[in-house]
Amino acid sequence: MTTHSVGYLIGSLSSTSINRLLAKALIRVAPPQLTFTEIAFKDLPIYSPDYDADYPPVAKAFKQSIRDVDAILFITPEYNRSMPGGLKNAIDWASRPYGTNAFTRKPSAVIGASTGAIGTAIAQQHLRSLLGFCNSPQMNAPEAYIQFKPGLIDEDGRVANEGTEKFLRGYMEALHVFIARVLSVLPRDA
Ligand code: FNR
Repeated sequence: MTTHSVGYLIGSLSSTSINRLLAKALIRVAPPQLTFTEIAFKDLPIYSPDYDADYPPVAKAFKQSIRDVDAILFITPEYNRSMPGGLKNAIDWASRPYGTNAFTRKPSAVIGASTGAIGTAIAQQHLRSLLGFCNSPQMNAPEAYIQFKPGLIDEDGRVANEGTEKFLRGYMEALHVFIARVLSVLPRDA
């Protein structure tokens, strides 16, 4: 069985994050061909081009962890109709210095949960715009805007609603197909 590694970034730093619960649910229903590693970014300083000549170790390690995986999955809340600043900062780090952008040709997908009715739709559009600029092939469909109601996903990632679980399973199956397809034409070492 060919497996593909997925690095996932959770846009929220909250200790009670519903997006962390969503991440657990997604991993739980994912096909066995996908393996998962969380790529944390909370210890990154605020990016400045002054760091380009000599990235600090935490930023080198962060960027390397993006390089080390076959694909990236963003699981993010919406903050003020965009992505949280910490996540934007992390993307800026991985994209620089100029000419060494770690997202180039790296397949990606976005998903998010919010308590609001539009389920992170605007944050995801902003994130998609960044990923386009960073030359990351994105899974365009299915889109997934999860409106989180209390009890929807438990601490172990179990989904209370059968329809939502089926939808998340379908999303992860589509992600597997997408990654395999992209890597068949854009191999990692090309
Ligand atoms: C929010 N929230 C929010 N929700 C939304 O649907 N659209 C938005 O623009 C915002 N803006 C926003 C800004 C800030 C600073 C906070 C803290 C929150 C509510 C948000 O969806 C809710 O807090 C989620 O629980 C955040 O996800 P995590 O952190 O629990 O994963």
